[in-house]
Amino acid sequence: MTAYERLRSLLPAAPKSWLITGVAGFIGSNLLETLLKLEQNVVGLDNFATGHRHNLRQIQDAVTPEQWARFRFMEGDIRVLDDCRAACDGVDYVLHQAALGSVPRSLEDPITTNGANIDGFLNMLVAARDAKVTRFVYAASSSTYGDHPGLPKSEDVIGKPLSPYAVTKLVNEQYAEVFARAYGFKSIGLRYFNIFGAHQDPEGAYAAVVPKWTAAMIENQPVFINGDGETSRDFCYIANTVQANLLAATAQHPDAANQVYNVAVGDRTTLNDLFEAIRSTLEPRFPHLKGFKPSYRDFRAGDVRHSLADITKAKTLLGYAPSHRIKDGLLEAMDWYVADLAGR
Ligand SMILES: NC(=O)c1ccc[n+]([C@@H]2O[C@H](COP(=O)([O-])OP(=O)(O)OC[C@H]3O[C@@H](n4cnc5c(N)ncnc54)[C@H](O)[C@@H]3O)[C@@H](O)[C@H]2O)c1
Repeated sequence: MTAYERLRSLLPAAPKSWLITGVAGFIGSNLLETLLKLEQNVVGLDNFATGHRHNLRQIQDAVTPEQWARFRFMEGDIRVLDDCRAACDGVDYVLHQAALGSVPRSLEDPITTNGANIDGFLNMLVAARDAKVTRFVYAASSSTYGDHPGLPKSEDVIGKPLSPYAVTKLVNEQYAEVFARAYGFKSIGLRYFNIFGAHQDPEGAYAAVVPKWTAAMIENQPVFINGDGETSRDFCYIANTVQANLLAATAQHPDAANQVYNVAVGDRTTLNDLFEAIRSTLEPRFPHLKGFKPSYRDFRAGDVRHSLADITKAKTLLGYAPSHRIKDGLLEAMDWYVADLAGR
């Protein structure tokens, strides 16, 4: 039995109270679905900056009415300290996901990104500290590795940030470390690599590559690869990310808290490989994709060339064991991508 299987078998018998910030977003709504299905009590905070009410509706449809009744949604903003305090009240675990993602968004509007990702983060730390929550787990980012060329990335060696977004995620880790030292506050940062799966927005200028390409292929629209396609990433399916969050919140290992962990699979996939993986997964349902080719254009500013995680630390201290590699995740998410597009 894995650590995650053990945790999943124990949680329903002893429900806890969880706060998910960014609950209407991609990762937040997936956390919500898993926790409700495990009979947990969940508070969700979101201001719909990039999240969607339809994500919450889809989770409502996926759980029983009794499970949905254990969820309380608060429309609010992490930049407002009172909203953070109200959300943290009486909570055991915080899973802090709310932030403005996307490197290009931060290059175009660093001030708004800073407001949500640094001011909002600090508000959440203060509110969670004062509410005496048991553990604060937060979304960090692989962008923190910045310009360091070493591969695979292990947690203790980082480079200089390459974007305002990367600065904000680095500052989050620094604030968390200072709160541990100054106030004895217990947190865990999860450095997500490229996460993909159901409920990830395929639309808009800042859409992530997997939902964007999947939607384009289904609709027979051009797929653009920035650069030569040999840029590589460690794509991580959402089920692995949910697993890491639940394990981090409840980890008992004496050295587990006040650390950051890579959350990925440890697989290197180039953009050319990704294109082919999505195309071949879709082709049986969408025959027009036989022989479908991408279009190449310039490299994008602020992007790192290669990203690959060493996940030993999360395996050792959290008991993390990714359940899905990229192809497994694409197959599992495919029904959602198709249904989501049909419903738009
Ligand atoms: N998806 C990835 O590959 C990835 C990689 C690294 C890090 N992350 C981090 O994971 C977290 C979740 O990302 P996601 O992919 O689910 O993005 P998302 O945009 O789908 O979700 C973020 C959610 O936060 C909410 N939000 C933003 N600003 C807010 C504010 N001021 N107050 C309240 N709510 C606010 C949004 O409305 C949205 O629902 C973010 O912190 C992101 O930086 C994601």
